[in-house]
Amino acid sequence: MKDDACICFLQWALPLLHMRWPGFRKVRGQVCKRLARRLEELQLANLKDYRSHLLDNPLEWHILDSMCRITISRFYRDRGVYNNLQSQIFPELIDNAKLRGDKNLSCWCIGGASGEEPYSVSLLWELSGLERKGIDLKILATEVDQAMINRARVGCYPASSIRELPALMMGRAFSLQGGRLCLKEKYKERVHFLQQDIRNEQPAATFDLILCRNLVFTYFSEELQEEIGQEIIERLTPGGFLVLGTHERFPKTLKDLTQCLQGQSIIKKEGGKISRDKQTR
Ligand SMILES: C[S@@+](CC[C@H](N)C(=O)[O-])C[C@H]1O[C@@H](n2cnc3c(N)ncnc32)[C@H](O)[C@@H]1O
Repeated sequence: MKDDACICFLQWALPLLHMRWPGFRKVRGQVCKRLARRLEELQLANLKDYRSHLLDNPLEWHILDSMCRITISRFYRDRGVYNNLQSQIFPELIDNAKLRGDKNLSCWCIGGASGEEPYSVSLLWELSGLERKGIDLKILATEVDQAMINRARVGCYPASSIRELPALMMGRAFSLQGGRLCLKEKYKERVHFLQQDIRNEQPAATFDLILCRNLVFTYFSEELQEEIGQEIIERLTPGGFLVLGTHERFPKTLKDLTQCLQGQSIIKKEGGKISRDKQTR
């Protein structure tokens, strides 16, 4: 399939799926490959014919929607985020939990892929001394694709998925099995996976920390970003943090927020008790 044809098709189809083309520009290859396979399955000559097929078969839009999921992820993606979690965000959340008399913190990863992000948070918690502070951390990872969740439960990865992880963590947390690096069971225990499409459902709980990176605020339309952004903020505890992808922005229309740390990509909800010396703005 020619790249130009794929671009032209995506620029037409993505807005109809409430997604935005600029988010896909750099990573379109993954979607274009799936489209080429789909044309073969349907024995269609080109994307023009596929457009007609879509218009004649409304159910095909669901298949196209699932082909537009970008699944790229890796452990410790954007390492600076994890440094911030370790040095500022978790210490502040732990202090505040102690002030409230809580023994637990909760984290929600939206679009948990095959576990790379939620397991990175688990490794950070376990291997950087945070778990010794007398507070427990539970992590919920929601993900639309059941196959990705199944892979996460197995927890074995190619070396390329782990290359950004600090060497010490890599050595302690993974063992080599059949040429792949497999996460030891104890680091999986605090992560729970749930199949959910963030566009239609969200957990019935609140969280101290929410990671929504490289999904909603990259690929979805502005209207969807606002709708989902509102749902996310409602699930953030006062004083809690929302972490976005490094190049993502939270919709300006949403209020009750404080922007802080790392430019625009870490957001703190107003409220909650904060010890004076740990304030981040
Ligand atoms: C680009 S990956 C990002 C993973 C991780 N957050 C990161 O930053 O490395 C996006 C993940 O979100 C999942 N996803 C796509 N659409 C979704 C939806 N509507 N609801 C929940 N997860 C979705 C994809 O299957 C994929 O695993």
